[in-house]
Amino acid sequence: GSLPVPSVQDLSAKVEDVPDRYVRPEFESELVCTDATFEIPVVDLSRILDEESRREEMAKLHKACEEWGFFQLINHGSEEAVGRMKNDVEEFFKQPLEAKKAYAQKPNSAEGYGQAFVVSEDQKLDWGDMYFVRSLPARVRNMSFWPEYPTTFKETLEIYSSAVKGLSLQLLALMAENLGLEAEQLTSMFEDISQALRMNYYPPCPQADKVVGISPHSDATGLTLLIQTNNVQGLQVRKNGMWIPVNAIPGGFIINIGDLLEVWSNGKYKSIEHRVVVNPNKERLSVAGFHGPNEDAIIGPLPDLVKKDGAANYKSLDTECNNSVSDPSLISNGSETVGNN
Ligand code: SIN
Ligand code: FE2
Repeated sequence: GSLPVPSVQDLSAKVEDVPDRYVRPEFESELVCTDATFEIPVVDLSRILDEESRREEMAKLHKACEEWGFFQLINHGSEEAVGRMKNDVEEFFKQPLEAKKAYAQKPNSAEGYGQAFVVSEDQKLDWGDMYFVRSLPARVRNMSFWPEYPTTFKETLEIYSSAVKGLSLQLLALMAENLGLEAEQLTSMFEDISQALRMNYYPPCPQADKVVGISPHSDATGLTLLIQTNNVQGLQVRKNGMWIPVNAIPGGFIINIGDLLEVWSNGKYKSIEHRVVVNPNKERLSVAGFHGPNEDAIIGPLPDLVKKDGAANYKSLDTECNNSVSDPSLISNGSETVGNN
């Protein structure tokens, strides 16, 4: 971030009491859903690719995007890339702090190893470290931030980057179809796709209920594909005024709609607020892949959907703004997005 803050991993090893800056009483009263059967939907990509089950599974996908803005994707075909990524990201974070600091963030940029963007001295902090790399388009790569260790990691990032890009485009095409559009009406905006990978490390916290791993936010970009490297859960999604824990399926992706996609869909698909809680005893690791459109993509509801719906539910922005996913946290606080509803 722009102001230096300590590594949480380092801090968690040294202190017994959580420093004030990490204590978040504002979240204490919030309800967490205890009904484990109330869960984000699961979509099986192999059932969409099979003509016999396609209709049914496409309907499931559509409903997930409309009602949850979140779903888990299984049988997605990128299992090998996911396996490599899990392994290498775990190895990376296992290194001593000094080794990771070789990739430390520079002032005013989130790329590299460090923490989420910090804008003021008295800002509350999240209980987590991150390693953030811009991966697409290839011309934005800053190789000085790409990892030398483990030795397979650079190649893994390449493989993973193109796998999740491919999956994103595949999903965008399916979503377009579900919205009654031609696939290209969404995918053409991603011809020069922007992608960033945010690898998250949440150390255990002895006072886990006093802190948050990532503060509540919605993702500002188009589509996010997330994996968790182990079975330590922590992601929660806001629905019906409660936090719904996500029980990540091993090997699957957790997919969520970003603000841009909500706006393009004229509000049909929802960019939902989520947060991360931390575990008292176990570390948690995850990798978020953010996907944004071409720099000149329209920021506003798609004209065909406005016509169909009879009104635009969001203002359109002139696109002098930069759509690329270089923003540190790629997050917004829901209300301050381009929307007006
Ligand atoms: C996570 O589940 O660890 C990350 C969630 C996010 O990026 O918002
Ligand atoms: Fe997020």
